[in-house]
Amino acid sequence: MTLEMRPPVLIPRPETEELVGLVVADCEALRHSTDASVLEVGCGSGAVSLALLRRIPQVHVIAIDKSEAAVSLTRDNAERLGLQHRIHVFQHDILTDPVERLQDLGPFSAVVSNPPYIFTEDMTRLEPEVLRYEDHSALDGGLDGMAVMKGILHLAPLLLKARGDVFLEGDPRHPEMVKNWLEDHPEGLLRLLQIVKDFCGKTRFIHLRSGRDAANATTSHMTGRRLPPYLSSMPPVL
Ligand SMILES: C[S@@+](CC[C@H](N)C(=O)[O-])C[C@H]1O[C@@H](n2cnc3c(N)ncnc32)[C@H](O)[C@@H]1O
Repeated sequence: MTLEMRPPVLIPRPETEELVGLVVADCEALRHSTDASVLEVGCGSGAVSLALLRRIPQVHVIAIDKSEAAVSLTRDNAERLGLQHRIHVFQHDILTDPVERLQDLGPFSAVVSNPPYIFTEDMTRLEPEVLRYEDHSALDGGLDGMAVMKGILHLAPLLLKARGDVFLEGDPRHPEMVKNWLEDHPEGLLRLLQIVKDFCGKTRFIHLRSGRDAANATTSHMTGRRLPPYLSSMPPVL
């Protein structure tokens, strides 16, 4: 899939292709339902949403980003790929804009996000080109790297269908931190289903499920997946 890129929108990293693979492989609702819908938080260039649309023909996507440049680029990429009829893209800040706007478009089968997840103190360790050309708010996840992730965890139960899934990309420290967050917020009825490693062997992806019956779901287990070698050529963000 060829996407146009325009600075300062983040250039998709190879790990994010693994996130798409995980959603396609492990989101049963998307494969089996005829009216499946996905909310992507922080669509950037549209890489995740558009890859999902191409791989799952019956799915519809709502893609949001707080950046106007990202929204415009995702719309353009959707048009270029002829996928504009199955995606609705608009500017929305998940941390400050009203959740009702998203609820009106749901409930969703899955919420997917590669949010900004770099710890602020690690931002200075990024490659100079990344710091110069890419939007810092696409990368900087705040002191614990979880500012946007926590917003998603708070809102996901309000946005998902029963037994809806959440797929997140994060820093290798985040799965443990998300487990702790879930223990502190049992009211959300989100359960950790699995933690998946990236092609470098780092814990990278977090799969959660909502709803009462999620409480009986298998507790987290670690799985490792491998990317084809051609996708390993780009360095991971961290
Ligand atoms: C790491 S980039 C991911 C971009 C794209 N999904 C990808 O994987 O290549 C994170 C994206 O989240 C967006 N973002 C940051 N904070 C946000 C917020 N509060 N609400 C919505 N989007 C946000 C950024 O503008 C950026 O496009």
